[in-house]
Amino acid sequence: MKPKDLKHPFSWKERQPAIENCVLFVPDYYERHEEFVFPTWSDSALFGNDNPVHIEYCSGNGTWIAEKAKKHPEINWVAVEKKFERVRKIWSKIQNLQLSNLFVVCGEAVTFSSYYVKENSVNQIYVNFPDPWPKEKHAKHRLLQPAFTKELGRIIAPNGEALLVTDDKTYCSQMIEEMLKSPLFKPCYPKPHYAEEYPDYGTSFFDSLWRKLGRKIHYIKFKKNAHLGNN
Ligand SMILES: C[S@@+](CC[C@H](N)C(=O)[O-])C[C@H]1O[C@@H](n2cnc3c(N)ncnc32)[C@H](O)[C@@H]1O
Repeated sequence: MKPKDLKHPFSWKERQPAIENCVLFVPDYYERHEEFVFPTWSDSALFGNDNPVHIEYCSGNGTWIAEKAKKHPEINWVAVEKKFERVRKIWSKIQNLQLSNLFVVCGEAVTFSSYYVKENSVNQIYVNFPDPWPKEKHAKHRLLQPAFTKELGRIIAPNGEALLVTDDKTYCSQMIEEMLKSPLFKPCYPKPHYAEEYPDYGTSFFDSLWRKLGRKIHYIKFKKNAHLGNN
C-alpha cells in the first residue's frame, strides 16, 4: 500500500469526526467534538483487547512508533499527527507491516486528548522531537504548555509515564519547567531532570537527522503519582 491510497474522508465544508481504515480523523475548527462517541481502547473498533496503551504525539512519518509496534505486540500504540500527508505515511506502514496494534489519529494533540481520550486510560505517552519554534515570537505554538500538560495529568493512569525527547536545549528547559509545575508528576531523573542516553529508545526521522549533525539528545521522563484521581 502506498501513502496516497489513504483518502481523506470528508471535505472541509462537511468536516466531522470519523474513524476509517484504522484512522481517527479529528477536524480542525470544529465545535461539536462532544457529540462523537469515541470507543474505549478495548472496543473492537479500536484494539479489541485490554493491553496497555501507549500514545506518541507528533509522530511525523511514524518511523519510531511503527518499529515499536512491531517489536511490542503486547502494547496498543496510538500515533497522533496533525498533518494528513504524514498520517498517510504512518498508515501505509501499518498496512505494509500488518500492525494490528497501531492506530493513527489525524488531528491536533490537545484537541484529541481533551475530547476523545478518557481519564486515566493511557499507560505511557511520548513526544519525540516536537517542533521547537525557536523564535520567541513563535513560542506560543509549542506543544508543551499548560493546556497540554493538564491533559497529560488527566489521561495518564497512576504510575504511568511521560517521555519527552528533544535536541533543543531551550525547549528542553521549558518542558521540564512545565512538567514540574504539575503536582501529579515526579521527575524520574535527578537535576537537571534529563538524560543524554536512553538505551534501546528507538530512532525516528529527526533523531537520525540531529545525531548525524552531532547534536545532543535530551530524554526527559516524568512519572504520574500512584494514587487514583487527579487532585
Ligand atoms: C519535528 S517533527 C518530529 C516528527 C517525529 N516525531 C520525528 O522524530 O521524526 C514534529 C511533528 O509534530 C507534528 N505536530 C506539531 N504540532 C502538533 C500538534 N499540536 N498535534 C499533532 N501533531 C503536531 C508536526 O506536523 C510534525 O510532523
